[in-house]
Amino acid sequence: MASDSKIHKFDEVAKHNKAKDCWLIISGKVYDVTPFMDDHPGGDEVLLSSTGKDATNDFEDVGHSDSAREMMEKYYIGEIDASTILAKRNHIPPKQAAYNRDKSSDFFIKILQFLVPLLILGLAYAVRHFTKKD
Ligand code: HEM
Repeated sequence: MASDSKIHKFDEVAKHNKAKDCWLIISGKVYDVTPFMDDHPGGDEVLLSSTGKDATNDFEDVGHSDSAREMMEKYYIGEIDASTILAKRNHIPPKQAAYNRDKSSDFFIKILQFLVPLLILGLAYAVRHFTKKD
């Protein structure tokens, strides 16, 4: 892999998410790890699951050795255009909608939490009332 400093857009990099065509974004750099899939000691599955996103945390969490970091240079194919990653992050709002949904179901649960003890109390009084008559 030639190490030209091409600037890649996030969407373009994210398309390379297959075992036979796998690109990773780590620390602002783009790597084409396709030739490394079979040889990666951590397996090809983890590399695949790190595509389509900034894989810096995934890579760092494993605590890769210095020799692993040297190895990366072989697969370097350019830099990521950081502004295109930010553009992706701005698409997150659907999560907020989900959050709002959670809030309304939270409200429903709170009402239930209030009603259920009242029902039990009412039931207890009713039972007591009828057993007294006997
Ligand atoms: C160009 C990118 C990468 C290179 C060159 C690379 C290289 C290596 C190497 C050489 C090892 C052996 C241990 C070591 O020397 O640290 C390793 C282990 C491992 N790698 Fe990667 N890696 C890359 C990306 C990733 C990514 C994105 C993940 C995602 C989580 C990952 C997950 C792992 C795991 C889980 C192991 C541990 C395997 C074990 O100890 O059982 N690697 N990697």
